Amino acid sequence: MRSLYCGAVNADHIGQTLTLCGWAHRRRDHGGVIFIDLRDREGMVQVVIDPDTPEAFKAAEETRSEFVLKVVGKVRPRPAGTENPNLPTGMVEVLTQSLEVLNPSLTPPFQMDEDNINENIRLQYRYLDLRREPMQHNMRLRYRVAKLMRDYLDRHGFMDIETPMLTRSTPEGARDYLVPSRVHDGMFYALPQSPQLFKQLLMVAGYDRYFQIVKCFRDEDLRADRQPEFTQVDLEMSFVEENDVMSLVEGMIRDMFKQAQDIDLPNPFPRMTFQEAMSRFGSDKPDMRVTLEITELTDVMKDVDFKVFSGPANASNGRVAAIRVPKGGEFSRGEIDAWTEFVKIYGAKGLAYIKVNEKAKGRDGLQSPIVKNIHDAALAEILARTGAEDGDILFFGADKAKIVNDALGALRAKIGHEKGYVDGRAWAPLWVVDFPMFEFNEDENRWDALHHPFTGPKDGHEALLTSDPGKALSKAYDMVLNGWEVGGGSIRIHREEVQEKVFAALNIGEEERRNKFGFLLDALKYGAPPHGGLAFGLDRLVTLMTGAESIRDVIAFPKTQRASCLMTDAPNAVDEKQLRELHIRLRNTAGTAAAQG
Ligand code: AMO
Ligand code: AMP
Repeated sequence: MRSLYCGAVNADHIGQTLTLCGWAHRRRDHGGVIFIDLRDREGMVQVVIDPDTPEAFKAAEETRSEFVLKVVGKVRPRPAGTENPNLPTGMVEVLTQSLEVLNPSLTPPFQMDEDNINENIRLQYRYLDLRREPMQHNMRLRYRVAKLMRDYLDRHGFMDIETPMLTRSTPEGARDYLVPSRVHDGMFYALPQSPQLFKQLLMVAGYDRYFQIVKCFRDEDLRADRQPEFTQVDLEMSFVEENDVMSLVEGMIRDMFKQAQDIDLPNPFPRMTFQEAMSRFGSDKPDMRVTLEITELTDVMKDVDFKVFSGPANASNGRVAAIRVPKGGEFSRGEIDAWTEFVKIYGAKGLAYIKVNEKAKGRDGLQSPIVKNIHDAALAEILARTGAEDGDILFFGADKAKIVNDALGALRAKIGHEKGYVDGRAWAPLWVVDFPMFEFNEDENRWDALHHPFTGPKDGHEALLTSDPGKALSKAYDMVLNGWEVGGGSIRIHREEVQEKVFAALNIGEEERRNKFGFLLDALKYGAPPHGGLAFGLDRLVTLMTGAESIRDVIAFPKTQRASCLMTDAPNAVDEKQLRELHIRLRNTAGTAAAQG
């Protein structure tokens, strides 16, 4: 139908007659002459329609935004002074010989070059939203990133193997999406939270290097960096240790950033233990561009006359810590109040602070609602440990360690970015290593796997699985980029008796083990090689690379925070017949198609 893309027309085509197809981006009437910016995925070109071609002129007069047009015309230089050097096609225009409306369009709910469009409207008319240049840019980058990673893995001998979508539960810490079986009355498949078990079985099967760019499904609370279905770049390797996997995938990310956006990431990426990350940054995914740090004060607060501090300082799982913000003494009452509200999101009960006006004056030089309750020795130790100087402010967290870490970790990043405590780097990758095997679930009074239950213990930590699970470290590693966890993986358990010990530590009984994981335990008995791998969150990586605010902006058809699709209206009620075939009776009939009319 056409000679080339609108966006590809340039000075080389001057004098040629071309056929172009695309959408009417804008139409301008200039007393007798009509200009239309004709747009397709490669860009825009200016089309001129003269009254000398009356039929084309009439069609152009009727053309509105987003009409689909076919234009035949001759390329000519733009008149002197009207060139647009910012546009690849800006030196030329196309003088129309004929113009055909291939399809009219309703008036779109927003213009394709509008900013700040309501996101619900964008999601409802996603096919229009995706026409917009920023979205086209994002989708293109996403394709390129996936292609570069695929090519890298192919070059390194990885084989793409598909794993089932209708399967058993693969525990990754979220709820499952279930699919009822028609053939098996009362039975359900689960959509995979990840291909974890299948990729391990492929290692048992001798495939040695597997990868897949694959959808995963997790029914969990959604945030700006989470979707109920998302895409992993998932891989697994045999006969490897932690460093083999980490250096291979680090190479992939470096290579991909270089080729996709000409960005040079450091070589190698720095590494930090989980313990250090929590202690200094209150987070296992610290944003290393932020220069603020957390100082440990638990031991200093044990004997102060301030229950808010001494309580957590003497509790087994408590923590008291502070963030020093250099020159933060200037922060206003209003700012401090806002941050006090902010830390409450993470369960903190308050945000005590000390403004260090003049250290030399001792406690009289400190401005704070709490210093009256803190004895001299403790005050001196606070100032010494934090390295506070005149003009600084210290913010305190005192609570269960988890709350202090979450609250101060988030506050550190917030103040860092709002107030410019950043080191100027655009990209700060980091490996976090030596995660604990388990974390204690207080609500249920039991140990949970910190990653997943197939993660191997560190050499020498196997006995701890039984004797002191809280102390056992794992061979897990997470890749963090600018404060986002972009990938995670581990060396796996490849011996059945070790896997049994982990299930025991997780309090998964014999019967449940057989029932849920019997196939894995059996497979481990048939010559499972040592193996390990990792999975990247493709959506998150691309979000960071595009600078988008939400991962929804790099997914063609995403879901809302409430896990629905505003365009198709999924999830939706189904009719009674379908339910009957699936052996399902609803508890709440308001959800049936009949009830919804
Ligand atoms: P994990 O659960 O860490 O590991 O997931 C790997 C990566 O996937 C991304 N991710 C998500 N992205 C968007 N929305 C979500 N809801 C979501 N959940 C996770 C993150 C994360 O780092 N089987 C293991 C991998 C392995 O051990 O090899 C796994 O799934 O970027
Ligand atoms: P109060 O004794 O409740 O008046 O609190 C005195 C100061 O301590 C206030 O600035 C509170 O914001 C702060 N504060 C209260 N609870 C905590 C806590 N758990 N951690 C940190 N600061 C707190």
